[in-house]
This record gives sequence, C-alpha cells and structure tokens, in this order.
Amino acid sequence: MTGLFVTFEGGDGVGKSTQAALLEDWLRAQGRDVVRTREPGGTDVGQRVREIVLHHRGHIDARAEALLYAADRAHHVATVVRPAIARGDVVIQDRYLDSSVAYQGAGRVLDPQQVRDLSLWAVDGLLPDVTVLLDLDETSARRRLDADDKPFDRLEAEQAEFHARVRTAFLTLADAEPARFLVVDASLPVDEIAALVRARVADRLG
Ligand code: TYD
Repeated sequence: MTGLFVTFEGGDGVGKSTQAALLEDWLRAQGRDVVRTREPGGTDVGQRVREIVLHHRGHIDARAEALLYAADRAHHVATVVRPAIARGDVVIQDRYLDSSVAYQGAGRVLDPQQVRDLSLWAVDGLLPDVTVLLDLDETSARRRLDADDKPFDRLEAEQAEFHARVRTAFLTLADAEPARFLVVDASLPVDEIAALVRARVADRLG
C-alpha cells in the first residue's frame, strides 16, 4: 500500500481533532495503518518546543518563534512522518506548515513566502497529499473556545483581529493550491464534515 499524508488546518477551536479522530477510525476500519500526530509537539524534542511556543511567559521574537515551529517540524517529519509514509501508513496530522504561514506569516509581521520557504527547507520539500481546511468565522470560533474551560495558550489569547488575519491567510493558501486543499465549512454537522473528508481521502487512496 502506498502511504498518504493528510493534514488538518484551521483556526483554534474549529474541530480539527474531532475530525482527525473520525478519519482515523474510518481508515482503521478499512484495514489501513494510521499514524495520528500533531505539530507542535509530535516528538519528545517537539514537546519541549511546544512548551516554549505555547506557554512561555513573555514575548518571543517573531523570527525566533517561526524558527522554533520549523525546528519542531524538521525533527517531526524526519523521525515520524517520513518513516510512516515510507512504510505505507496514512499519516493524519493536526497542523503543518500552512499553520506557520497563516500564524507566523499573516498573523505576525513576517513575510508569508519566507515563512513557507523556511518550513519547506526544514522538511526537505514534503507537502501533504490532502489538506483539510476547517473554515469558521471568528465569532463562532471564539464562542467555541470560550465554551471550553481550558485556559488560553499564547496564540489563543491573541485579539480577534489577529484571528481574522489568520483565517484570511488560510483561505488564500487554499485558493493557491486547490488540488491539495479541501475547504469545509466547520459550522456543518460533524458527520457531514466527516463524510466530505472521507470522500476526498478515499479518492486519493484510489
Ligand atoms: P494546539 O494546542 O495544537 O491548538 P489547536 O487545537 O488550535 O490546534 O496549539 C497550536 C497553536 O500553535 C495554535 O494556536 C496555532 C499555533 N501554531 C503556530 O502558530 N504555528 C505553527 O506552525 C503551528 C503548527 C501552530
């Protein structure tokens, strides 16, 4: 069997992990081996990076932040993602380089193309076969986050305007690569979204 690399992207609180779990269940029921993982924090090294980027108190320079995410990604792709794809597994991943472009590029002050190039260098050019963008307007996204009683991490605590820029950045990325992206309205019922995702993945699996 040939491996497949599927990523889920979108703002905070759009339901990426729910959809990743449903896709995993369905693929396992089809007899596929699945590796479910995430960035930042998909490795032991990545866990330490995750602690810094999400929970460090105080300012982190924008370029330093971009490099930290890229470092996490480099190690994760080299030690987890590429070996899994090579074995013929399906990798289902919460967030990948599009998150860096959207958050560090559009959300911050960095040039999105440079951020993308940095990540592409970090992973030696590996792009997903399918990227599901769960798109949700900021007000609904904020409502979902507020309903959750976990404390906000550094990025979740950013202002509404920041999240609006992130959303626009994701949609721009999806427009630029329609063959890779599946854009789904995240306010649809969970089962409907799952069916759309399954259809795209089944199509790519052949
Ligand atoms: P996470 O707890 O994984 O949240 P979520 O459930 O929203 O995916 O937190 C990841 C946070 O890190 C999220 O706010 C987006 C941010 N992030 C970046 O800014 N750049 C990146 O490259 C990645 C992978 C994540």
